[in-house]
Amino acid sequence: MTMSTTTMQIPLTAITLGDEEERAIAEVLRSGWLVQGARVAAFEERVAAYCGARHAVATTNCTTALQLALEQLGLQRGDEVIVPSFTFVASVNAILHAGATPRMVDVEAGTWNIDPKSVEAAINRNTKAIMPVDQFGLAADLHAVHELASRHHLRVVEDAAPSLGAAIGGARLGSISEMTCFSFHPRKTITSAEGGMVLTDDDKLAAHMRELRSHGASVSDLARHAATDDVIIETYDEPGFNFRMSDVHAAIGLAQMDRLDGLIERRRELAAAYDRAFAHLDAVEVVQPPPGFLHTYQSYCIVLTDDSPLNRQDAMRRLKGAGITTRRGCGAVHLEPFFVKRFGLARLPVSERLAARSIAIPLYPSMTPAEQQYVIEHVRGILR
Ligand SMILES: Cc1ncc(COP(=O)(O)O)c(C=O)c1O
Repeated sequence: MTMSTTTMQIPLTAITLGDEEERAIAEVLRSGWLVQGARVAAFEERVAAYCGARHAVATTNCTTALQLALEQLGLQRGDEVIVPSFTFVASVNAILHAGATPRMVDVEAGTWNIDPKSVEAAINRNTKAIMPVDQFGLAADLHAVHELASRHHLRVVEDAAPSLGAAIGGARLGSISEMTCFSFHPRKTITSAEGGMVLTDDDKLAAHMRELRSHGASVSDLARHAATDDVIIETYDEPGFNFRMSDVHAAIGLAQMDRLDGLIERRRELAAAYDRAFAHLDAVEVVQPPPGFLHTYQSYCIVLTDDSPLNRQDAMRRLKGAGITTRRGCGAVHLEPFFVKRFGLARLPVSERLAARSIAIPLYPSMTPAEQQYVIEHVRGILR
């Protein structure tokens, strides 16, 4: 196959938005209630029902969702939380901000998610919790993580930021762990611009998180406003945060929920076409979802093998030259300067390999067959 001579401009990602989102925002603006009101409550109910959880607690983004969830564990200085290094830095920062020590471990070579064997080896008397990360739209081996957690009496806060809609054996994320956090950043499968949520089945945890996200107030603004026959005055029983989502953000998220299944289906079709196209290209590896795991392909990454004629930087440069936007797949947090200085240089070979060799290539639901073919031809052309 010869490479196309005309240059296309292909973005890494593109949001699917329409009149529905615009109308939803306008309705909120006209309503006069902008912050954490009825739209936030409706968005929470919708996501909780979709994922099969009793409660969803909306926040400003997934980073604050993780902080809110970790706050529930009562972590003390010296307590450790096990987390994969191959994740976005926010997972690890949330642990630091909760006052605990992140214990970074390696991931599996096939799934790029936390390796239960590394988790087991890292458990010690200071370990209090495990934070599995569901990377790029694929669930971590949560059953193995939960088995370890229950054997060692540890809590689990799941970072499912990129993976709304992903499932294991038909059970969607959000219905599996004690607390699961999602992101609605525009690079995720659906967006609310900024936004996050913690899902849980636990009534007490949900109630506590609802208080803490709004300064620790015992009653929400919405509930006080709804009390028509009495005046309710809230109390503040502990120091909280302002992690409230606005109704403007929630309105966008709600409109996006109508699109979610269609967006996931399209992402999976595009990913399957990439898988077929790269199946016999020795220069790249792709992720291997275990049987029964539904991958939603928030990102599609290729990992350069030893057979690649180009290193990552040069491969990305060549693709950029052809008008194709790429990003590194993900970094390895333990190698970032702050973490090396604070915790010393650990060796996590799989994470380091993925961090050095992974490339996220364009994938978005509105991608046309011609655009995808253009990307495939160029990836094959430069790496053959
Ligand atoms: C694994 C992971 N955790 C947490 C976050 C933080 O999400 P947010 O940008 O909504 O704070 C991200 C965002 O990219 C992520 O990929």
